[in-house]
Amino acid sequence: MVNMDVLKEKVGKKAVDIVKDGQIVGLGTGSTTHYFIKYLGERVKNEELDIVGVPTSYQSLILAREVGINISTLTTLGDNEIDIAIDGADEVNSNLDLIKGGGAAHTLEKLVDSSAKEFVVIVDESKMVDQLGKFPVPLEIIPDALQLVKNRLIDMGGKPELRMGIQKDGPVVTDNGNFILDTKFNEILNPADLEKELNTIPGVVENGVFAGLADKVIVGKMSDIEEFDRD
Ligand code: A5P
Repeated sequence: MVNMDVLKEKVGKKAVDIVKDGQIVGLGTGSTTHYFIKYLGERVKNEELDIVGVPTSYQSLILAREVGINISTLTTLGDNEIDIAIDGADEVNSNLDLIKGGGAAHTLEKLVDSSAKEFVVIVDESKMVDQLGKFPVPLEIIPDALQLVKNRLIDMGGKPELRMGIQKDGPVVTDNGNFILDTKFNEILNPADLEKELNTIPGVVENGVFAGLADKVIVGKMSDIEEFDRD
């Protein structure tokens, strides 16, 4: 049995090498970027790097602070561009399209990852798939839109489920105060079309399909580390 956590650490540590002194770095969310942020903090400390991190969630904000990375936000950055964003994913296909949002952070992730000059994804090998869609697509929705969005998703052939909290009664409430509808589709033949269509439903803040956004995917495997670049 492969221990995915070992692979997450391997790839998180590896990604730290591509960050350069002086860069503004988007900090993704999740158990893989946890290692990236942790090891980036070590590099910042040991090499006295001048790095500014732009977190994509409270999780990455708190960790970045703990490990000594200076923090900024998209609002504070103004027209200073993010040089590179490093983020995890729940599924990656061979076109480097992604499903994200397993940690309910995909709205800010999409903003930060889209704002970066370069967007690099780090995953363990279990995330690589032939076709997206085994992992349900998370949609962040305004709470008042729950019934309307559910109905529209069912009309589209989806099976939406309200994500429920763990050690918290009732639904998960995102960092932005919204709900998550995890939506299973039978098959996702065209991720770019689905991404656009989902965001046209009133009340949807953002969905977890990231089509055509990743520049590079670094995959942690038992044997080695493999890298895929957008053509
Ligand atoms: C956060 O909402 C997600 O988009 C994560 O980036 C994604 O779920 C990957 O998480 P892990 O690295 O924990 O698998």
